[in-house]
Amino acid sequence: MVKVLITGANGLVGQTLVRKFLLLSQFELLATSASECKIKGLDTDRFRQMDITSAEQIKTVFDEFNPEVVIHCAAMTQVDPCELNPDLCDLVNIVGVRLVGKASEQIGAKFIYVSTDFVFDGLKGPYSEDDQPNPVSTYGWSKLQGEYITRSLKVPWVIVRTILVYGVTLSMNRSNLVTWVRDSLSQQKPIRVVNDQFRMPTLVDDLADGIISIIDRNKVGIYHLSGPEMISIYDFALKIAKIFELDDSLITPILSESLSQPGKRPVSTGFVLDLAVDELDYSPRNIQEGLLMVQNLIGEFSVSPGIPPAC
Ligand SMILES: NC(=O)c1ccc[n+]([C@@H]2O[C@H](COP(=O)([O-])OP(=O)(O)OC[C@H]3O[C@@H](n4cnc5c(N)ncnc54)[C@H](OP(=O)(O)O)[C@@H]3O)[C@@H](O)[C@H]2O)c1
Repeated sequence: MVKVLITGANGLVGQTLVRKFLLLSQFELLATSASECKIKGLDTDRFRQMDITSAEQIKTVFDEFNPEVVIHCAAMTQVDPCELNPDLCDLVNIVGVRLVGKASEQIGAKFIYVSTDFVFDGLKGPYSEDDQPNPVSTYGWSKLQGEYITRSLKVPWVIVRTILVYGVTLSMNRSNLVTWVRDSLSQQKPIRVVNDQFRMPTLVDDLADGIISIIDRNKVGIYHLSGPEMISIYDFALKIAKIFELDDSLITPILSESLSQPGKRPVSTGFVLDLAVDELDYSPRNIQEGLLMVQNLIGEFSVSPGIPPAC
């Protein structure tokens, strides 16, 4: 059995990886996160509270579990809080990667770092793995520093970049664009959504499957894993409204500049997926299929009496 440790396991990506790994008998899993376990159905033995900015906590957990693969999902993930609090952003997204990366190096564990399209400036997407990063925000900059740390490790490493991740967790406790649009419109709340930013939204299940494929196939290096379709965020919101049969007249298209957000966003990102398709058999769902899957999972997860509450 391959021993896999996940950081930031309470997050959207972390919880989805946990749900998938628990179904795969060739892996032994340890989920870790900063706060107490919020993952529905996970046995307490499979979870440790671990702050990635504490070398001491990392050492305790690594000494106990001795992972062979570390999937580093933990991060300060919101653009504006990073812009407003760059010291905290650097601590979590740079120092944290260094500490977890070094701990992995010390025990010879493969290190998989989850990164972002926000390392690019968004002027010429879609981007391939060897395009030159040029972040336009503190968040993007901090994640790029995390990539540099990852690349310097003397163990096999992987950088997985992804884009606008959406989906639903068993605990249904992680907000993302799809859940935000759905919840707002369900409550008849008007929302404003930018129509001048373009992304390739990623179903979290596809991302998790891609990461598992990287481990299964023993791959190293940089991989771009996103959905296959480029769309404006406004048009994506309209599709969400349509799938969930909600009133799309509540959605107003706006320009990014009218939001006056502290953190700048890249205009158009998107990824060239050829490497992942060729080497990982990566086959992401299109937006229609992805949203239908979310709709089905919401139905399934809201009536899952057999699953115990969060550990
Ligand atoms: N979501 C996206 O659209 C997107 C797009 C591109 C890239 N990414 C990258 O994908 C990764 C996972 O994102 P996500 O969407 O799953 O994020 P998320 O839902 O915001 O979860 C991030 C997790 O990081 C944990 N964390 C924060 N500070 C920590 C610390 N000091 N020590 C330990 N854990 C800490 C949090 O733990 P607690 O909940 O326990 O406090 C949280 O569960 C991130 O690296 C992000 O940069 C995400």
